[in-house]
Amino acid sequence: MKRIAILTAGGDTPALNATVYGAVLRASQLQVEVYGLIKGYNSLLNPRLPHVRLNPLFQPIPELDATLGGTILGASRDLIPADDPELVEQIHARVRRLGVEGLVCVGGDGTLNGLQPLCDRLPVVLAPKTIDNDLGLNYPGEADEFEREAAANGAGYVYHRRPSAVVFSPDRMVNYVTPGYVTAVFESATSVGKVRTTAESHRRIAIVEVMGRNSGYIALGSAYGQPDIVLVPESPVDVDRLVARVVELYERQKNVVIVCGEGVVDAEGHELGAASPTTDPAGNVVLSGASEALRRMLIERLGDEYFRSRRRSDSAAAAIFTRKVGHTQRGGRPVLFDRFHAARLGGKATEMLLEGHNNAVAVLQWETERGFYLDAIAGHRLRDRWGHIHARFIHPSFYDPEYLRVSRLGIDYLLPIFTHAVGSDDVEHMRQALFAAGNLMVPYHSPNTDLHKRIRYLSENRD
Ligand code: F6P
Repeated sequence: MKRIAILTAGGDTPALNATVYGAVLRASQLQVEVYGLIKGYNSLLNPRLPHVRLNPLFQPIPELDATLGGTILGASRDLIPADDPELVEQIHARVRRLGVEGLVCVGGDGTLNGLQPLCDRLPVVLAPKTIDNDLGLNYPGEADEFEREAAANGAGYVYHRRPSAVVFSPDRMVNYVTPGYVTAVFESATSVGKVRTTAESHRRIAIVEVMGRNSGYIALGSAYGQPDIVLVPESPVDVDRLVARVVELYERQKNVVIVCGEGVVDAEGHELGAASPTTDPAGNVVLSGASEALRRMLIERLGDEYFRSRRRSDSAAAAIFTRKVGHTQRGGRPVLFDRFHAARLGGKATEMLLEGHNNAVAVLQWETERGFYLDAIAGHRLRDRWGHIHARFIHPSFYDPEYLRVSRLGIDYLLPIFTHAVGSDDVEHMRQALFAAGNLMVPYHSPNTDLHKRIRYLSENRD
């Protein structure tokens, strides 16, 4: 291959530019041209196919900086419809006109689903990203354990997992961790620690909501901020147990910090944060309000008198507050772990394309003896027998539902990822960047402004 393309799809993560950088660097070493496609799959749906050359003369363009969060290529949650062969043919014709012989998509499960229709016409490899850390398997073969039945309301299917006979070991996880996750946890754990001191001062109960959709990895990693209670979507909230634990802690230390994943569910499996479900363009349920739902529960169960009698607050409503860490989890400079492994995965994806892989995924594996290493897997290993990709849930052994916290095995999972995740350059950056005098004098300069000048369109190529 002489020319490949790359796009970043789905929700952004801080490590996307690092992945693109790694892909471009490796391609340049191999004398392959790389075109960046603008705004994820949206570019392919656009007849003018907006694109930029990322390595003219086999040198990465200066805007491509692995330490920058977000993606200079832009991202969207648009998908290519699987049931429109005519559109796929048009896309293929566009890509051919650009002289592109293979495509790297940087994305998560939605992106892997999205690239399916293209694979019959063009080699495509996925370089993984997601702050949710839900792209992968707890063990090989996990995807084959799904069963499905028609949904009661007639809309689609409901999927169930068969009980598994597999003896779980983190060494055998498929795609142990995904770039973006570590920086998100850096943010969420930092927020938890900061909320603590104000909860302590004012004798309050804080509920910190973190992202992650239906997977509890970000909530689990937030344990580094030392919350008292961690609630993950994989373990339905037992209200009696939660209230008992909150009271036990509040009696002792006059404050409680709870972390909840945005996708936490009640005993019936209903998402607390999706009382009125809406979906984003990719069909994902938009979750908001899990922490507020938990707050209402605690206010009702504890009541004003509980706080007044202890002279801690005038009301339960004043004593219990919520904070969503929100999109700051997805933004900013990626920490060392994310940058390093994202760049390696980008390089691996490029190599895979050149080696002839198609519909395949570059993965980051971990083994006790070996540490982190890269591998290539076929995309179908992540699919169930109907072709559906399920978000990876945290394995039950990572969580202690009795003490509502990360378990011993969960700690063993987290340690290799986080122990050396932050580099000294990250700390130095923090020290130098925020209060630099120039920040007050010079307005923010977006890399998009520069990149825009490099964007070319298909019709211009013909001239
Ligand atoms: O999948 C990444 C993610 O950040 C989720 O954790 C979160 O639920 C969702 O995207 C938010 O999406 P949006 O940015 O579209 O609100």
